[in-house]
Amino acid sequence: MQRSPLFPQMILEGPVMTSVKTADFSIFSRRESEARSYCRSFETTFVSASGSMMTDANGRRYIDFLSGCLSLNYGHNDPDMKQALVDHITADGVAHGLDMYTDTKARFLETFERLILAPRGMDHRVMMTGPTGTNAVEAAIKLARKVTGRRNVIAFTNGFHGMTLGALACTGNAGKRDGAGGAALSDVTRMPYEGALGDDVDTLAMLEAMLDNPSSGIDAPAAFILEPVQGEGGLNAASGNWMRGIERIARKHGALLIVDDIQAGCGRTGTFFSFEDMGITPDLIPMAKSLSGFGLPFAALLIRPERDIWKPAEHNGTFRGNTHAFVTARVAIEKFWSDNSFAETLSAKAAMLEEGLRTVASLVEGAELKGRGLMQGVDVRSGDLAAEICARAFDKGLIIETSGAYDEVVKVLAPLTTSDEVMRHGLNILLDATREVVTAKPAMAAE
Ligand SMILES: Cc1ncc(COP(=O)(O)O)c(C=O)c1O
Repeated sequence: MQRSPLFPQMILEGPVMTSVKTADFSIFSRRESEARSYCRSFETTFVSASGSMMTDANGRRYIDFLSGCLSLNYGHNDPDMKQALVDHITADGVAHGLDMYTDTKARFLETFERLILAPRGMDHRVMMTGPTGTNAVEAAIKLARKVTGRRNVIAFTNGFHGMTLGALACTGNAGKRDGAGGAALSDVTRMPYEGALGDDVDTLAMLEAMLDNPSSGIDAPAAFILEPVQGEGGLNAASGNWMRGIERIARKHGALLIVDDIQAGCGRTGTFFSFEDMGITPDLIPMAKSLSGFGLPFAALLIRPERDIWKPAEHNGTFRGNTHAFVTARVAIEKFWSDNSFAETLSAKAAMLEEGLRTVASLVEGAELKGRGLMQGVDVRSGDLAAEICARAFDKGLIIETSGAYDEVVKVLAPLTTSDEVMRHGLNILLDATREVVTAKPAMAAE
């Protein structure tokens, strides 16, 4: 494959691996399941990572605008989290403690209460679920059904909530649903997300009319589940008005409000929770991805106290509460959320991102900006075009992916800690890649 030149020296500063460890992928094609996915888009062997950069076995460095699908909001190998984790391991700190009381869990919970929940007036309890986001979603759906004694869950077009059967039933994507092999993905009613039927369709009014009508055929819902910004579904960002409307309709119909902040949370939209400026109080909030701060598996469900009707061990699991993740999550919160200084950096960074993406969008006819905060992208109106742009960008040293129903949105998910210089450089690569691809396909170019 023809590669463009490596980055300018300023981006390359720091140690660069020069030894070629392996360029042979045969072990992966021979032994790794066909289910593998991201590696097919980024065909190289990565050996190290730091901050916003990843390095492959050939010593080539890449800017990471994917951030482990947003499990690395604070970048790769944050030195303070790494040191705390190394110290914990070196001191024979508990590595696995089931859900027993440990000093690390206590310190994480105290920090989360003091710096995240209490300042936001949130009285939620923290349930340690299995370590992936989908397990926190399963717990939320089960709990909502237990609390209300109802089965039906209202989920939204383009929503993505995970790959286990309950969460997958709430997920819209046809390709992902096919993975269920025909198993029933039931007890969910799908409704249009804000804007899904065009700007002139009032989806709140439609939803309310359907639920108010006792003959609409929709069973009384246990819960509404939704993402404030649909990460996998095309970076559709709901307005505060719409989110408040959903909360009002949920309350009116005795349903719980589940706000899935697995992808949009932990600072991604500019505040710790993606909904915190919207004036809503979700009953249940699944969290995962960047909660550990370090890319370690760790998920939790935040629960309003009056909804916390679990009996002990009713949602059990061997890996509930990852002790190593408690260590890094505590450091992440102390380091980035002790005061407003980190959050204040995010709006300037989001503005820079938006400006860069506007230039990218201007190259493609009909292209449109999507998302908010540091979760933005460009809808280029074609999955093939988006894939070509991402592939070209990767050749130039940028890791970037697509989202949306047709994979038509090129999405930038850079670590929140990305320096302005690296952000600018990554955006320039994206711009060059887009220009090259549309120049080769003149019909796609904007006038
Ligand atoms: C909004 C949302 N919910 C749930 C999940 C599932 O999380 P996990 O992949 O950790 O199971 C994801 C993953 O992308 C997500 O984006």
